[in-house]
Amino acid sequence: MRFDRLLTHARLATMVPGEVAYGALLDAAIGIRDRRIAWIGPMSEVPETALETESLDGRWVTPALVDCHTHLVFAGDRSDEFERRLAGESYAGISRSGGGIRKTVEATRKAGAAELAGGALSRLDALSAEGVGTIEIKSGYGLTFESELAMLRAARSLGLVSGLRVSTTLLAAHSIPVEYEGRSGAYIDEVCIPLIREAAREGLADAVDAYCESIAFSPEEIRRLFIAAKAAGLPVKLHADQLSDTGGAKLVAEFDGLSADHLEFTNADGIAAMAKAGTVAVILPGAFYGIGETQKPPVAALRAAGVPMAVATDANPGTSPMVSLLTAANMACNLFGLTVEEALAGVTREGARALGLAKDIGTLETGKRADLAIWDVERPAEIIQWIGLRPLHGRILGGEWL
Ligand code: NIG
Ligand code: FE
Repeated sequence: MRFDRLLTHARLATMVPGEVAYGALLDAAIGIRDRRIAWIGPMSEVPETALETESLDGRWVTPALVDCHTHLVFAGDRSDEFERRLAGESYAGISRSGGGIRKTVEATRKAGAAELAGGALSRLDALSAEGVGTIEIKSGYGLTFESELAMLRAARSLGLVSGLRVSTTLLAAHSIPVEYEGRSGAYIDEVCIPLIREAAREGLADAVDAYCESIAFSPEEIRRLFIAAKAAGLPVKLHADQLSDTGGAKLVAEFDGLSADHLEFTNADGIAAMAKAGTVAVILPGAFYGIGETQKPPVAALRAAGVPMAVATDANPGTSPMVSLLTAANMACNLFGLTVEEALAGVTREGARALGLAKDIGTLETGKRADLAIWDVERPAEIIQWIGLRPLHGRILGGEWL
């Protein structure tokens, strides 16, 4: 049998954990068959011929990047809040005064799935141009039965038009909609839980997320939501401990959550529970920076406990108006002290794990999907050292050049 494609003369950052930094393999080749990596190893041992052989001229290859936390689909604009925050108002204060997520909800409810998808394309293009091959997209700006489904449909359609792999997350419990003011529990029971069942039935959501915070939902409400998600066969994740310690990390770990995201205020209990459950910590420096947070996520304690750390953009119109995963990785190093290797693993291997896709993507290994990013750099660290450079040479997704 022959490979469909053989890539030769490459330097591979396989990101397989082990003794060697970046799981590096120098002077190597990758054989691709049926959209998957069929063989990987040194040039001197290439076992078969191929229909197409291409030399990568010594370029570095990493797994295609994974952005495991975005709110890419929305309508409207929140630049007024940027100005209000610069003038001294807080994110929570703006949210309580009717701005924040609610403002985006107003605009998003007026848009249909096609308009929502169209509006997200330029943002998706920006991420794609940096080397992103898989992106998670949340709902959470509709907050009605129909509007949340429209957001999920928009997200799914983006996968079809872009060639990127899109993982969708139902985030109906993102904010309490005006019509449920003071009745957040009723919103969970009457809208969020029926939505979980419908999204699962239609195959529209790959996971369920929620916002556990004083300005959003309580741990008890989220517990009810998670029970329903598990019953529908959907894994859970949580916006946890972003503005205060609500025990969110521990709560999501209790449900074997895929990830706990933000974590600025997570305590030792939460970290221990995440380590035990194998829940990934998703580090979101864009939101930390965007709202002028000063409390940093407990990176050293997460590392010491062996909690895997992913890094994502949290791309959204409020807290993290950012469509650069490489910048997020750079910030995770400079602001929070991740090593470059941890940050690169955070946007590949651990990002994949945070989406429950570790078996399929995230490292360069035999059997995984042939999703590769090829870089014009001398060393892997150069990929995230720069801000705004985009050293991507090209991408192969599912075995084909994009
Ligand atoms: O991840 N924390 C809640 N959700 C988003 C913010 C969404 C918004 O402000 O529009 C976040 O930071
Ligand atoms: Fe978020």
